[in-house]
Amino acid sequence: MEKIKCIISYAQENLAQEKTGHDFAHAQRTSSLAEKIIKTDGLQVDDFIVMASAYLHDIIDDKVTSDPEKAQQKLRLFLQQIDCSSTEVEAILTIIQNLSFSSEKFAEAKPLSLEGKIVQDADRLEALGAGGILRAAYFSGAHGQTIYDPNISPQDFHTKEDYRKPSTTINHFYEKLFLLPEMMNTSYGKKEGIRRKTFMQEFLREFYQERQV
Ligand code: ADP
Ligand code: NI
Repeated sequence: MEKIKCIISYAQENLAQEKTGHDFAHAQRTSSLAEKIIKTDGLQVDDFIVMASAYLHDIIDDKVTSDPEKAQQKLRLFLQQIDCSSTEVEAILTIIQNLSFSSEKFAEAKPLSLEGKIVQDADRLEALGAGGILRAAYFSGAHGQTIYDPNISPQDFHTKEDYRKPSTTINHFYEKLFLLPEMMNTSYGKKEGIRRKTFMQEFLREFYQERQV
């Protein structure tokens, strides 16, 4: 079987139990958005590395697995078994280890390759817009966070531990989501990110208005 097909099946299997908005459908959309970025910006990249990283990017994340180290070892072995070269294995693992908002903000994230920057923008677009609003609410439900509490103000986090402490869905918009458009690497990512953020701001205006009754 073609390598990318094996990787897609691996992602599907490993995300089957995922219930916080980082499921296989999110991996598929990340991959489609990455393709869109490549086309729109006319980028010359290794498409296999982009697609593979898009499908696998959340599998070794502490949000999805209780043992990221073990998930990483298992993934490395799998990539070797389907005959990925050691350059491909390293390229994919380096991207997925360094792409997340939390690793960029709180850890010493390595600079990303162009392939990594594309997947990072695709993943960030997934956190924005109508889908982003629903994913934040879905994540909140899974973690027992409240939707909104006017007595809790948004925080500026300094450690990953604090960032992972429960917040509210609406605070997450200010704590992370609205910061994303400025952090984009690609032209399409930035433009689409701003468009999606504008929609979310519109949504918030309506949300606050409903609460004034
Ligand atoms: P990354 O994997 O880039 O570090 P996050 O851990 O911030 O990203 O989470 C990815 C997605 O999970 C977010 O875009 C959001 O949809 C959801 N999420 C994470 N933390 C929260 C939170 N505290 N409240 C609501 N949604 C969250
Ligand atoms: Ni993701």
